[in-house]
Amino acid sequence: MTPIVLLKRLTFCAALIPAAQLAYRAYTGDLTANPIEYITHKTGDAAVMLLVITLVVTPLRRLTAWNELIQLRRMLGLFAFFYACLHLFTWAIVDKFFDVETMVQDVFERPFITIGMVTFLLLLPLAITSTKGMIRRLGRRWQQLHRLVYVAATTAVIHFWWGVKADIREPRLWALALSVLFGFRLWWMLRARALSRS
Ligand code: HEM
Repeated sequence: MTPIVLLKRLTFCAALIPAAQLAYRAYTGDLTANPIEYITHKTGDAAVMLLVITLVVTPLRRLTAWNELIQLRRMLGLFAFFYACLHLFTWAIVDKFFDVETMVQDVFERPFITIGMVTFLLLLPLAITSTKGMIRRLGRRWQQLHRLVYVAATTAVIHFWWGVKADIREPRLWALALSVLFGFRLWWMLRARALSRS
């Protein structure tokens, strides 16, 4: 087995850990006194974490020159979307009983829900166009479209930040991680420009 295949398998198993934990706690009846809140938090946390990790792949590939790492990006992005779907379903079905009127009201009246919905809507086209056929069909436009992942990660962290009641330590940590990643991207772009001029 090649190192990248091993890493892909390990990443796949690691990305399933939050879902497995939730399933185990549901099976053992250990979803705390407020299961809806618990599931919403856990799925939201997993979605943000995987989204940020997705953005780590490219810098890591550039720094290590291990080009095969790029194969992890799609899987990580799709896992982030998977947890975002579980998160949305928990809110829509378990919390709001799929009452469209209450849901629409929530989206328009609570800014933190609005930005959560914006994040989900940004992730949706990325997930739909993540197939090999779509990558081929969209060509250069695919790359342009997939830059939206940076916007989605930013709105996800804003959603997290606006959603927490008092303790902002966790969203602040994700905001810091994103700033470092954006900083790296900027530095890399400036460096490439300088190299092409010289
Ligand atoms: C689709 C629309 C969305 C809705 C309606 C929504 C709704 C919620 C709700 C109700 C909470 C709980 C807040 C509380 O307990 O006070 C929450 C928290 C959270 N959501 Fe969302 N969300 C959405 C999209 C997203 C997306 C796309 C992501 C990530 C990619 C995300 C990440 C989070 C995180 C990280 C938390 C905080 C978890 C914690 O406190 O540990 N949400 N969201």
